[in-house]
Amino acid sequence: MEKVLAIACDHGGYELKKEIIAHLEKRGIKYADFGCYSTASVNYPDYAAALCEKIQSGECYRGILVCGTGIGMSIAANKHRGIRAACASDTFSVKYTRLHNDSNVLCLGGRVVGVGLALELCDLFVDTEFEGGRHQTRVDMISAIEKTQMSK
Ligand code: RB5
Repeated sequence: MEKVLAIACDHGGYELKKEIIAHLEKRGIKYADFGCYSTASVNYPDYAAALCEKIQSGECYRGILVCGTGIGMSIAANKHRGIRAACASDTFSVKYTRLHNDSNVLCLGGRVVGVGLALELCDLFVDTEFEGGRHQTRVDMISAIEKTQMSK
């Protein structure tokens, strides 16, 4: 089955999401867009939840969320079981959050990063594979914390 990348935004991330989608299309990367579809004001947790549920169900393998800062989306996304969302605006962090944390959601700030950098961050997020090994142990520890916390 072809891997599908999920993408979603709020009004603060809408313009950047359009640029990212154009870039994904240019690269031939299959994606599914879960809104929003204009700059009219919406609530970012709704879009974080819509995207995270598609990753949890296995319909999408990884996702990109864009809001004004990337921060609200990342806070909301990280409330979902199995989601490891990273809010980042530099290439080093994006590379290593894939290599070491196996982050499955990248959160970008449409009011923080320029288009050129954002596209580079998306490429790194899509193209970098998890290293596993000792990092798998640590990711498993995160899952264990999640399990304990969610049963409280
Ligand atoms: C919306 O104005 C803004 O709060 C949102 O896009 C995001 O930056 C939240 O973290």
